[in-house]
Amino acid sequence: MGSEGAQRHVVVLTGAGISADSGVDTYRDAGGLWEGHRFEEVATPEAWAANRELVWRFYQLRRQKLAAVEPNAAHLALVRLERELAARGEGFTLVTQNVDDLHQRAGSTVLPMHGELSRLRCEACGSRPADREHLDEEDLVPCPDCGAVPLRPDVVWFGEMPYHLPEIEAAVARATHFIAIGTSGAVYPAAGYLSYARASGAWTACQGLAEPDNLDPRDAFFGGRASEAVPELVDALLADPPRV
Ligand code: APR
Repeated sequence: MGSEGAQRHVVVLTGAGISADSGVDTYRDAGGLWEGHRFEEVATPEAWAANRELVWRFYQLRRQKLAAVEPNAAHLALVRLERELAARGEGFTLVTQNVDDLHQRAGSTVLPMHGELSRLRCEACGSRPADREHLDEEDLVPCPDCGAVPLRPDVVWFGEMPYHLPEIEAAVARATHFIAIGTSGAVYPAAGYLSYARASGAWTACQGLAEPDNLDPRDAFFGGRASEAVPELVDALLADPPRV
């Protein structure tokens, strides 16, 4: 059971499964292929250096798709959890591995550790403009600030350092409740936070269609689709007394 009475700090980590019910493909359920390319082939600094046009086309397609999807009940339930815990003077931190902007559009405060499709980045001057006017641009876009190189997607690729790690690690260290939603637990450092929170004494749980690779017998597991299970989980956390 959860730690009733103590000042709660709930940390939620989400993965592609929370956006699946909005129509966004996951990485490993959909076979992880795009036009015959594996993500690992396209989402790397080496691929960008070797074939910028291919990588740009891959990400432009994903950026365009974002405009066609909406946050689902799971995203909205996490906004409710954040606001209700704040009203009670309790802590909440949301971390996402996703690069879609569905948490942001739902109204959550979120730490996007793998970057954001809605941003571009200049590797020469570091500029990270939010960008929507170039969604349909087939050609590479020179950096508007320095012009030295074409802008790349502001997405963290395999082998690159994720964003917000110190802030995430501090939140996990003080979590009383840690819940991983819609993630296969296959990619680190994100997959390591579940055991780190458990070792720090937090109540730990996973929610997803399938048990994640990093699930431990000490973790609770809530099966099913996030859009149905996450609102129920939020109700249980906010019940008086909490049911988890
Ligand atoms: N509701 C809940 N969970 C779901 C749903 C759903 N409707 N559909 C799928 N899932 C679960 C799957 O069971 C799986 O555990 O979501 C998870 C999706 O796993 P992945 O596709 O591996 O996505 P994720 O864990 O977010 O990948 C992590 O890998 O490729 C990199 O950087 C990329 O951020 C990504 C990281």
